[in-house]
Amino acid sequence: MTKIIINGYKGRMGQALVHCLPQHQGLELAGRVDAGDDLAAVIGSCDAVIDFSSHATTVQVASLCAQHQKALVIGTTGQSDTETFEIRKLAKAIPMVWTSNFSTGVNTLFWLTRKAAEILGPDFDLEVVEMHHRLKQDAPSGTAKSLAEILADVRKVRLNETARHGRAGIVGARTPGEIGVHSIRGGDVVGDHTVIFANTGERVELAHKASSRDTFANGALRAAAWVVRQPPGIYDMQAVLGLK
Ligand SMILES: NC(=O)c1ccc[n+]([C@@H]2O[C@H](COP(=O)([O-])OP(=O)(O)OC[C@H]3O[C@@H](n4cnc5c(N)ncnc54)[C@H](O)[C@@H]3O)[C@@H](O)[C@H]2O)c1
Repeated sequence: MTKIIINGYKGRMGQALVHCLPQHQGLELAGRVDAGDDLAAVIGSCDAVIDFSSHATTVQVASLCAQHQKALVIGTTGQSDTETFEIRKLAKAIPMVWTSNFSTGVNTLFWLTRKAAEILGPDFDLEVVEMHHRLKQDAPSGTAKSLAEILADVRKVRLNETARHGRAGIVGARTPGEIGVHSIRGGDVVGDHTVIFANTGERVELAHKASSRDTFANGALRAAAWVVRQPPGIYDMQAVLGLK
């Protein structure tokens, strides 16, 4: 039995994890932690922690996991460069799965986005559009960032130099190299992502729409069962799904 602790269990994703856990044979809940609880007091009882709290907490959680030699599944998004650097350092000591999206469908979208960008080439304008519920804290979504990073990687450019986050005012014509990234917020949308490849006379759109958080929760639980058997390092969902 692999024993897990869910950090952030009272949240939307935490509740989906608690709900989906019984369907995963071989996984057992060793503890549930939320704001105000002490993860350090219970971490000894688990093999892996699944963190869906907040980007601001993840470094602290990773540090505790490294100290106690526990595997970690990171679901939080919105990490700063400093937080990302710290997490990567800690992954030298323990295995982690860290992905902006745990759904099989979105990981297929990642693959298709790379393929389409390679096939369509540099003449197509690239835009990523995402929509999430009104309570989401970070923008753009981690998944939209991952999609834009894939596009930048194929084009061999740096995303921070080419990303265009929204447009307002007399912005002039679109520059050929830019990668548009746009965030829409409203209602209870679980997560929609569209990658647009637009050229004169034609347009390709790749879209994914999540209608239940269970798809992310089941992916994260599958990742927890997998990560405890890995050597230290950072892995993504493609590795968990055996696509690498
Ligand atoms: N990777 C994915 O597939 C995926 C999917 C959905 C959401 N997310 C990300 O997961 C995170 C959580 O999303 P959500 O919609 O469940 O948010 P939420 O606000 O509903 O839940 C977050 C929970 O974490 C708790 N929390 C805050 N600080 C804490 C701390 N210091 N220690 C322990 N618990 C703490 C909150 O009290 C809350 O219960 C976000 O970063 C979101 O972007 C990732």
